[in-house]
Amino acid sequence: MSKLTVKDIPAEGKRVFVRVDFNVPLSPEGRVLDDTKIRASLPTIRYLLEKGSRLILASHLGRPKGKVVEALRMDPVAERLSRLLGREVLKSNTVVGEEVVRAVEALKPGDILLLENIRFEAGEEKNDPQFAAALARLADFYVNDAFGTAHRAHASTNGISRFLPAVAGLLMEKEIVYLYKSRENPPSPLVAILGGKKVADKIGVIRHFMGHADSLLLGGAMANTFLKARGYVMGSSFYEEDKLDLAREILEEAPKNQARIYLPSDVVIVEELRARSPFKVVKAENIPEGWSAVDIGPETVDTFQKAIHGAKMIIWNGPLGAYEFPPFHKGTEMVARSIAAAKAESIVGGGDIVAALEELGLSDQITHLSTGGGAVLEFWEGKELPGLTVLQEHSLTGI
Ligand code: 3PG
Repeated sequence: MSKLTVKDIPAEGKRVFVRVDFNVPLSPEGRVLDDTKIRASLPTIRYLLEKGSRLILASHLGRPKGKVVEALRMDPVAERLSRLLGREVLKSNTVVGEEVVRAVEALKPGDILLLENIRFEAGEEKNDPQFAAALARLADFYVNDAFGTAHRAHASTNGISRFLPAVAGLLMEKEIVYLYKSRENPPSPLVAILGGKKVADKIGVIRHFMGHADSLLLGGAMANTFLKARGYVMGSSFYEEDKLDLAREILEEAPKNQARIYLPSDVVIVEELRARSPFKVVKAENIPEGWSAVDIGPETVDTFQKAIHGAKMIIWNGPLGAYEFPPFHKGTEMVARSIAAAKAESIVGGGDIVAALEELGLSDQITHLSTGGGAVLEFWEGKELPGLTVLQEHSLTGI
């Protein structure tokens, strides 16, 4: 997968439209709570600033569904970006139209204009060609640095590429390099760790790594569905009734596949899930009525750690327990610490687990922390990402 990048375009002095994923969490007062995604695109922005480009940045924020939602304006993002860059970031109050055209015309080399929330326009999610063309008219080149949104076929991630030379940003390039290696050419042993709540979200990834990983470690509430499918007594644990057949199918197929599947052998159980509620550790096959599994137990942590210890590459998505209710974050934390200490290359995707690693101060010890949530899962599943497929692979002719 060789995509042209921002380094392959003659960006000097040119108007460059950069699709970024600045979909960051905001406090109720509108403060940026976590600027990881903004920081992740700084290399692309800085590179273009050094080239003296005129930057037009566009992102979505939340899901306003084609309408102006005051609480989802991009002003706090512009402010944070300006602080991170140590320079002025202009911000328009609309996405397209006269105000924006005039603001772009006034841009000087090295100026940055952040457009208003691109999802305020209905044409964005509809991938409307007229809206995409209006965006394209603002610029000479299109750079997609929004890996986290690359699984959406929207005007600013997909349609716009029909009207402008389209290349990858440096974040997009980095994401593709690591994720492609983990999907297509991973060193063995590859250990895939998957957690989270729902089997449906992970099924494609489970299927892919069943054929490509050496060990598949399953945790989180999702593992309950597999344990139930195995015939275990799950007490009052959450599981997905309508996914039991699917889970059974996966478990039956497992011996024919490369990966050995590890389910929790013991679990932490509670009567009521809240922080610091009384708990017990029991074998996974026999959870008393009225009790629910909320974390992997110490024996399971030990099994997972042994697999991690022998790995050459580890991929991880989804927490292994009710991470937001301490101490039921312990299983996730212990596994995170082993990954951080392991010699293996580690690739972690999904907002919740990336935030957990940052909170634990372990993010520096992970080879690649992806900025994608749904995009990583779709990439690992082997789906084509509409924001990625449209980026140019061959030399740009005529420029
Ligand atoms: C994300 O946060 O996963 C991306 O920004 C995509 O957002 P979306 O799910 O609203 O398209």
